[in-house]
Amino acid sequence: MGYKIAIDGPAGAGKSTIAKKVAAGLGFIYVDTGAMYRAMALFLIREGTDAKDTAAVSRKCKEADITIRYENGEQVVYLNGENVNGMIRTEQVGQMASLTSPNPDIRKRLVELQQKLAADADVVMDGRDIGTCVLPDAEVKIFLTASSKVRAERRYKELTAKGEKCDIDVIEKDIIERDHQDMTREISPLQAAEDAVFVDSSYMTIDEVAAVILDKAANVQNK
Ligand code: DC
Repeated sequence: MGYKIAIDGPAGAGKSTIAKKVAAGLGFIYVDTGAMYRAMALFLIREGTDAKDTAAVSRKCKEADITIRYENGEQVVYLNGENVNGMIRTEQVGQMASLTSPNPDIRKRLVELQQKLAADADVVMDGRDIGTCVLPDAEVKIFLTASSKVRAERRYKELTAKGEKCDIDVIEKDIIERDHQDMTREISPLQAAEDAVFVDSSYMTIDEVAAVILDKAANVQNK
């Protein structure tokens, strides 16, 4: 087992930006677990699977082979051999991922893949259940959050920068709805591990948040 930093938190808290920065600072691999649930969701959308039909989701997910490769330092997700990195960042895929990720058959397969990646390398892994389920013995656990308003503003900026038309109120409503789905599900709900450090990034810069985590990592390494 390598050195493990787990970063959990709600959608839009800045987990991936921070995790990438911390990973680069330490020379660790960044593992984006949300991308795996998104790739699975993309597969289910393409297959026309109804997210509410649990039996169909359980059956269909077995046909999706999801693998991860690192190309030029970037995590690339392959769905049945196809690079789907460019197709999984839409609101539609995010919603489908939120609806289907509670499925135990999906979780079992993807958690195994995540644990395998952490067994082979030093990792910074972000998601919803990393500190609680995937890597319960992680050396550093962070619960990163921000207010729904700030998260909506960040998402709005990101989408408009890409030239997408969007409404900030709709984005905030979606964020609140997704938080509720992720936090109230029975299996592996989004929650802070007991030993996680709580960081509210609403009024912090990326560098400030990364510094907090790097500091924790240095303290643990020095013990
Ligand atoms: O972090 P994200 O928005 O890319 O994640 C997409 C969805 O995947 C999210 O709504 C919940 C789910 N997810 C999960 O259940 N467990 C994880 N470790 C990561 C993501």
